[in-house]
Amino acid sequence: MPVTVGFDVYGTLIDTHGVVVTLQQMVGSRAADFSRVWRDKQLEYSFRRGLMQQYENFTICTRHALDYTCSYFKTPLDREQRDKLLAVYRVLPAFDDVKECLARFSSGDFRLYAFSNGSADAIETLLVSAGIRAFFHDVVSVDEVKSFKPNPGVYCHFLRRTGSSGSEAWLVSSNPFDVIGAISSGMKSAWVQRSAEAIFDPWGIEPTITVPDLSLLAEQIASYRSTTAP
Ligand code: 2OP
Repeated sequence: MPVTVGFDVYGTLIDTHGVVVTLQQMVGSRAADFSRVWRDKQLEYSFRRGLMQQYENFTICTRHALDYTCSYFKTPLDREQRDKLLAVYRVLPAFDDVKECLARFSSGDFRLYAFSNGSADAIETLLVSAGIRAFFHDVVSVDEVKSFKPNPGVYCHFLRRTGSSGSEAWLVSSNPFDVIGAISSGMKSAWVQRSAEAIFDPWGIEPTITVPDLSLLAEQIASYRSTTAP
Protein backbone atom coordinates (compact mmCIF):
# COMPACT_ATOMS: atom_id res chain seq x y z
CA MET A 1 0.00 0.00 0.00
CA PRO A 2 1.64 3.30 -1.05
CA VAL A 3 2.12 6.01 1.57
CA THR A 4 0.01 9.08 0.92
CA VAL A 5 1.95 12.34 1.19
CA GLY A 6 0.06 15.63 0.93
CA PHE A 7 2.20 18.68 0.28
CA ASP A 8 1.02 22.08 1.40
CA VAL A 9 1.64 24.51 -1.46
CA TYR A 10 1.98 28.18 -0.48
CA GLY A 11 5.05 28.65 1.69
CA THR A 12 6.07 24.97 1.49
CA LEU A 13 6.53 24.20 -2.21
CA ILE A 14 5.94 27.67 -3.58
CA ASP A 15 7.68 30.79 -2.31
CA THR A 16 4.98 33.39 -1.58
CA HIS A 17 7.68 36.01 -1.19
CA GLY A 18 8.63 35.49 -4.84
CA VAL A 19 6.40 38.49 -5.44
CA VAL A 20 8.98 40.80 -3.80
CA VAL A 21 10.83 41.46 -7.06
CA THR A 22 7.67 42.90 -8.67
CA LEU A 23 6.77 44.72 -5.46
CA GLN A 24 10.16 46.44 -5.42
CA GLN A 25 9.23 48.23 -8.66
CA MET A 26 6.06 49.50 -6.95
CA VAL A 27 6.89 50.13 -3.29
CA GLY A 28 10.69 50.17 -3.31
CA SER A 29 12.45 49.24 -0.07
CA ARG A 30 9.19 48.36 1.66
CA ALA A 31 8.67 45.37 -0.64
CA ALA A 32 9.68 42.63 1.83
CA ASP A 33 7.55 44.08 4.66
CA PHE A 34 4.66 44.58 2.26
CA SER A 35 4.88 40.96 1.14
CA ARG A 36 4.91 39.72 4.77
CA VAL A 37 1.86 41.78 5.81
CA TRP A 38 0.03 40.67 2.65
CA ARG A 39 0.70 36.99 3.37
CA ASP A 40 -0.23 37.28 7.08
CA LYS A 41 -3.46 39.06 6.21
CA GLN A 42 -4.30 36.53 3.50
CA LEU A 43 -4.05 33.72 6.07
CA GLU A 44 -5.98 35.71 8.68
CA TYR A 45 -8.79 36.26 6.18
CA SER A 46 -8.92 32.55 5.40
CA PHE A 47 -9.07 31.68 9.13
CA ARG A 48 -11.81 34.25 9.75
CA ARG A 49 -13.85 33.20 6.74
CA GLY A 50 -13.59 29.57 7.87
CA LEU A 51 -14.71 30.44 11.41
CA MET A 52 -17.53 32.67 10.25
CA GLN A 53 -18.61 30.15 7.59
CA GLN A 54 -18.50 32.93 5.03
CA TYR A 55 -16.42 31.11 2.47
CA GLU A 56 -14.88 32.93 -0.47
CA ASN A 57 -12.03 31.22 -2.27
CA PHE A 58 -8.35 31.81 -1.50
CA THR A 59 -7.88 34.04 -4.54
CA ILE A 60 -10.48 36.41 -3.10
CA CYS A 61 -8.83 36.27 0.34
CA THR A 62 -5.56 37.15 -1.43
CA ARG A 63 -7.13 40.07 -3.29
CA HIS A 64 -8.83 41.47 -0.18
CA ALA A 65 -5.56 41.09 1.74
CA LEU A 66 -3.74 43.01 -1.00
CA ASP A 67 -6.29 45.84 -0.76
CA TYR A 68 -5.83 45.88 3.03
CA THR A 69 -2.04 45.93 2.69
CA CYS A 70 -2.15 48.88 0.28
CA SER A 71 -4.19 50.81 2.87
CA TYR A 72 -1.87 49.69 5.69
CA PHE A 73 1.20 51.02 3.87
CA LYS A 74 -0.73 54.05 2.57
CA THR A 75 0.36 52.95 -0.91
CA PRO A 76 -2.07 53.98 -3.62
CA LEU A 77 -1.39 51.14 -6.07
CA ASP A 78 -3.81 51.47 -8.98
CA ARG A 79 -6.00 48.64 -10.28
CA GLU A 80 -3.51 47.76 -13.03
CA GLN A 81 -0.66 47.39 -10.50
CA ARG A 82 -2.83 45.27 -8.19
CA ASP A 83 -3.87 43.06 -11.11
CA LYS A 84 -0.22 42.66 -12.03
CA LEU A 85 0.65 41.54 -8.49
CA LEU A 86 -2.22 39.07 -8.48
CA ALA A 87 -1.07 37.75 -11.85
CA VAL A 88 2.44 37.22 -10.45
CA TYR A 89 0.86 35.39 -7.49
CA ARG A 90 -0.52 32.80 -9.95
CA VAL A 91 2.96 31.92 -11.22
CA LEU A 92 5.12 32.22 -8.09
CA PRO A 93 8.36 30.21 -8.11
CA ALA A 94 9.02 26.94 -6.29
CA PHE A 95 11.70 26.87 -3.59
CA ASP A 96 15.07 25.60 -4.85
CA ASP A 97 14.88 22.24 -3.07
CA VAL A 98 11.43 21.24 -4.37
CA LYS A 99 12.15 19.50 -7.68
CA GLU A 100 14.87 17.28 -6.29
CA CYS A 101 12.78 16.45 -3.24
CA LEU A 102 9.81 15.36 -5.32
CA ALA A 103 11.99 13.35 -7.67
CA ARG A 104 13.48 11.38 -4.74
CA PHE A 105 10.01 10.15 -3.76
CA SER A 106 9.76 8.26 -7.04
CA SER A 107 12.15 5.58 -5.81
CA GLY A 108 9.81 4.61 -2.94
CA ASP A 109 6.20 3.50 -2.58
CA PHE A 110 4.63 6.93 -2.24
CA ARG A 111 1.66 8.67 -3.75
CA LEU A 112 2.03 12.46 -3.76
CA TYR A 113 -0.74 15.04 -3.64
CA ALA A 114 -0.80 18.82 -3.54
CA PHE A 115 -3.17 19.79 -0.72
CA SER A 116 -3.91 23.46 -0.45
CA ASN A 117 -6.12 26.32 0.60
CA GLY A 118 -5.82 27.48 -3.01
CA SER A 119 -8.53 26.60 -5.53
CA ALA A 120 -7.75 23.69 -7.85
CA ASP A 121 -7.28 25.87 -10.94
CA ALA A 122 -4.91 28.25 -9.09
CA ILE A 123 -2.87 25.30 -7.80
CA GLU A 124 -2.76 23.57 -11.20
CA THR A 125 -1.50 26.82 -12.76
CA LEU A 126 1.18 27.25 -10.07
CA LEU A 127 2.43 23.67 -10.28
CA VAL A 128 2.55 23.67 -14.08
CA SER A 129 4.34 27.01 -14.15
CA ALA A 130 6.89 25.78 -11.59
CA GLY A 131 7.43 22.61 -13.68
CA ILE A 132 6.40 20.20 -10.87
CA ARG A 133 2.83 19.16 -11.75
CA ALA A 134 3.90 15.76 -13.09
CA PHE A 135 5.15 14.64 -9.67
CA PHE A 136 1.64 14.73 -8.22
CA HIS A 137 -1.05 12.11 -8.48
CA ASP A 138 -3.72 14.79 -7.94
CA VAL A 139 -4.54 18.20 -6.47
CA VAL A 140 -6.86 18.33 -3.44
CA SER A 141 -8.26 21.78 -2.72
CA VAL A 142 -10.17 22.95 0.33
CA ASP A 143 -12.49 24.63 -2.17
CA GLU A 144 -14.16 21.24 -2.58
CA VAL A 145 -15.54 21.55 0.99
CA LYS A 146 -15.75 25.36 1.15
CA SER A 147 -13.62 25.85 4.23
CA PHE A 148 -9.95 26.38 5.02
CA LYS A 149 -7.12 24.76 6.90
CA PRO A 150 -6.97 24.11 9.85
CA ASN A 151 -10.66 23.17 9.95
CA PRO A 152 -10.58 19.40 10.78
CA GLY A 153 -13.14 18.88 8.00
CA VAL A 154 -10.59 19.72 5.31
CA TYR A 155 -8.08 17.11 6.57
CA CYS A 156 -10.90 14.52 6.73
CA HIS A 157 -11.76 15.50 3.16
CA PHE A 158 -8.14 14.97 2.12
CA LEU A 159 -8.16 11.47 3.65
CA ARG A 160 -11.47 10.62 1.99
CA ARG A 161 -10.39 11.94 -1.41
CA THR A 162 -7.10 10.06 -1.31
CA GLY A 163 -8.60 6.86 0.13
CA SER A 164 -6.10 6.88 2.99
CA SER A 165 -6.22 6.38 6.71
CA GLY A 166 -4.81 9.07 8.98
CA SER A 167 -2.11 6.91 10.54
CA GLU A 168 -0.66 6.17 7.09
CA ALA A 169 -1.05 9.64 5.56
CA TRP A 170 1.40 12.51 5.86
CA LEU A 171 1.04 16.24 5.53
CA VAL A 172 4.23 18.16 4.70
CA SER A 173 4.04 21.84 5.57
CA SER A 174 6.12 24.81 6.64
CA ASN A 175 3.02 26.33 8.26
CA PRO A 176 2.77 25.30 11.94
CA PHE A 177 -1.01 25.85 11.99
CA ASP A 178 -1.29 23.32 9.14
CA VAL A 179 0.93 20.76 10.87
CA ILE A 180 -1.08 21.10 14.10
CA GLY A 181 -4.32 20.79 12.09
CA ALA A 182 -3.14 17.58 10.41
CA ILE A 183 -1.82 15.97 13.61
CA SER A 184 -5.06 16.86 15.41
CA SER A 185 -6.94 15.07 12.64
CA GLY A 186 -4.93 11.89 13.15
CA MET A 187 -2.41 12.33 10.33
CA LYS A 188 1.37 12.22 10.47
CA SER A 189 3.07 15.49 9.67
CA ALA A 190 6.50 16.81 8.73
CA TRP A 191 7.19 20.41 9.68
CA VAL A 192 9.57 22.09 7.23
CA GLN A 193 11.36 24.66 9.35
CA ARG A 194 12.52 26.75 6.44
CA SER A 195 14.36 29.25 8.64
CA ALA A 196 16.09 28.92 12.01
CA GLU A 197 13.90 31.81 13.25
CA ALA A 198 10.64 30.00 12.46
CA ILE A 199 8.81 29.17 15.69
CA PHE A 200 6.51 26.21 16.18
CA ASP A 201 3.38 27.09 18.18
CA PRO A 202 3.79 25.96 21.82
CA TRP A 203 0.49 24.09 22.04
CA GLY A 204 1.95 20.77 23.16
CA ILE A 205 1.10 19.23 19.77
CA GLU A 206 4.36 18.32 18.05
CA PRO A 207 5.19 17.47 14.43
CA THR A 208 5.92 13.80 13.75
CA ILE A 209 9.26 14.92 12.30
CA THR A 210 10.91 18.32 11.79
CA VAL A 211 13.16 18.92 8.78
CA PRO A 212 15.18 22.05 7.92
CA ASP A 213 14.28 21.80 4.21
CA LEU A 214 12.87 19.31 1.74
CA SER A 215 16.12 17.84 0.46
CA LEU A 216 16.03 14.45 2.29
CA LEU A 217 12.34 14.26 3.10
CA ALA A 218 11.62 10.98 1.26
CA GLU A 219 14.39 9.24 3.19
CA GLN A 220 13.30 10.86 6.48
CA ILE A 221 9.71 9.65 6.09
CA ALA A 222 10.89 6.17 5.03
CA SER A 223 13.26 6.03 8.01
CA TYR A 224 10.50 7.10 10.43
CA ARG A 225 8.26 4.36 9.04
CA SER A 226 10.90 1.68 9.35
CA THR A 227 11.69 2.59 12.98
CA THR A 228 8.02 2.65 14.00
CA ALA A 229 6.80 -0.38 12.00
CA PRO A 230 5.04 -2.93 14.22
C1 2OP B 1 -1.77 26.35 1.53
O1 2OP B 1 -2.76 25.69 1.87
C2 2OP B 1 -1.78 27.11 3.90
O2 2OP B 1 -1.25 28.60 2.23
C3 2OP B 1 -1.18 27.31 2.57
O3 2OP B 1 -1.23 26.21 0.42
